[in-house]
This record gives sequence, C-alpha cells and structure tokens, in this order.
Amino acid sequence: DWNIENVLKEEMDKISATVGPEDHVICALSGGVDSAVAALLVHKVLKERLHCVFVDNGLLRYKEGERVMDTFKNHLHLPVTKIDDSKRMLARLKGLKDPEAKRKAIGAGFIEVFNDFAKGFERKPRFLVQGTLYPDVIESMPPPGKDQKHSHMIKSHHNVGGLPKDLQFTLIEPLRELFKDEVRALGRLPELNVPETFITRHPFPGPGLAVRVLGDVTEGEALDVLRQVDEIYINTIRDFGLYDKIWQAFAVFLPVRSVGVQGDQRTHSSVVALRAVTSSDGMTADWYPFEPKFLQTVSSRICNGVRSVNRVVYDITSKPPGTIEWE
Ligand code: XMP
Repeated sequence: DWNIENVLKEEMDKISATVGPEDHVICALSGGVDSAVAALLVHKVLKERLHCVFVDNGLLRYKEGERVMDTFKNHLHLPVTKIDDSKRMLARLKGLKDPEAKRKAIGAGFIEVFNDFAKGFERKPRFLVQGTLYPDVIESMPPPGKDQKHSHMIKSHHNVGGLPKDLQFTLIEPLRELFKDEVRALGRLPELNVPETFITRHPFPGPGLAVRVLGDVTEGEALDVLRQVDEIYINTIRDFGLYDKIWQAFAVFLPVRSVGVQGDQRTHSSVVALRAVTSSDGMTADWYPFEPKFLQTVSSRICNGVRSVNRVVYDITSKPPGTIEWE
C-alpha cells in the first residue's frame, strides 16, 4: 500500500542496502525543506557517517545562512558544516548573461565544493545525497527521442541537468519520486519531526538569487538590492497573514532603469518585479490576486526603504506560459 510511512521505511531500507557499512556520505543542504527532509531520512540510517554541507554561494537571501544554520543546529539537530564559496561562485558567474550558462556554472561550482570537501576524508565518500523531487526530474528531462544537447527541456535544475558529466559521486535521491506536498507529509512524521515553520517555507531554487537577478548577477549592487527588497516583500506578506496561502513569493531584479521622482528630485534608478503564485506542485501555477491595499503597502515600503529602487511592478503571468522563476 502506498502511504507516507511506507515511503519512509522503503527509502531507509534502500539506503541500508546501497551504502556499505564503512562508507561515508555527503549531503548537500540548500536550506529548504526538500534537502532537510532527505538529510534527516538518511541520517536516521547512517548517523555520524552522514556529513551535511551547507554552501554559502553568495546567492542567498537576506541573513539566510545564519537563519538556516540555526535551524539545523537547534531544531533539526543535524550536524552541518558551512562552507563559504561566495567569492569563487561570483567569479564563475562574472560576465555570464544566459540563464542556462548561469545554471551550469552554479551546478559545476557546487560540485567543486563537494569534491574539495570529500578530499578531507581518509576514505573518500562515494555518495552524495540530494533533495531532488519528481517535478525537478520531469522539468529537466529532454523530451523523448531528443538528446540533452538539443533538448527542449524547460530548465536544467542545478541538481539534475546542471550537474557535470564526470560527477565523482553516486547520487542518493530519496525524494526523487515525490511531490512537494508528499515531502512535507514525510517531514511531519514523528520519526523526522521537522518543525511546522520549516515545513511550510516557500520553495527556493538551488541557483538562488542568480535566477532572480536577470542577466549578469555580478554587475553593480543588484544582489544586495534584491536581498533588501525580498526581505521587505516577504515580511509584508507575513504581516498581511498571506504567507501560507501562497506557494512561492519573491522579488526579481530587472537590469533596466526607469525615471522617477523622489523627494522633488528626478531619479533614474532600478525597477523590481514582485511575483507570487499559488500551485500544488510547481508544475503549473497561477499568479496570486493580492488586494490593492497590499500592493500599495508593499510598493511604498520598498521605494521608501530601498534607496536605489524607484519602481515596483507586479507579475501577472501564470505558468504556463511563464515559468515560476524568471530564468
Ligand atoms: P520554474 O521556474 O521552473 O520552477 O517554474 C518550478 C519550481 O522549481 C524551483 N526551481 C528550482 N529548484 N533547483 C531547485 O532546487 C533549481 O535549479 C530550480 N529552478 C527552479 C522554482 O523555485 C519553483 O518552485
């Protein structure tokens, strides 16, 4: 019978059968629900032979690194090593404008970090745990009969299509057949006991803010501006009690400038777009119909709070034809 308790048992059994008694395993934590649930599940089987890594790639949200490290330690009780790879990652991204090129560079950067980390072991870990979900697999898959190079896949999610061909690890992906709501149900089981505030976090893509700063992310202050705008946006959504009604909400930094007037002065500064969608699995989505009062509040909070932004627009595109992320 398919039920979530059985999924837990079966996936734990698979890990016992795959990983040898002497093997050590690395787990890539993103800070989101999926990788945390995958890690907890594997941790139940392997205990101290599981080594979790959280990479600060310079593409995280406002205070995200500190916040998730606190959750891992104090709420999930998972030992995690934090690795700062931000300088190297931003150098890799310098000058890259094409969304797929950016995704590939980020995927390769992650693997470099894990390869380096694995070198520190006497017996090199052969396995890498990832929180890949079923929709990630589907959306990164070339259509039948097409090879990767000529594929019309939607996006190479960094943890599926974005990985290098010569990957030195065998992947362990215990959530590969599950949808998001099933992963949340798994995390809620008493055996894993993930706190509800963590379970209900909006999804966040592996390539982070890089797919939310359109074009070259290393140009100017875009990442910093985006962090500030995003924090104001999410806090306002929480103030209005809307966080749990929305699948995902975030801001996008546009590489254009528009003319404005702030304090009697002409300005020529940045435009940000806000996106919020409802969805059941991320494969299709509808834009969220905020009340005008909300839009008014968030727009003035952003323009008053972030000096270099003088215009806020709201994305009214569903998926399809848009994807959830802009890149
Ligand atoms: P799109 O933009 O393809 O996104 O409609 C669907 C869902 O997947 C998330 N997403 C990613 N998640 N690695 C991930 O782990 C990725 O490379 C990636 N790209 C998109 C996106 O945030 C949305 O929830």
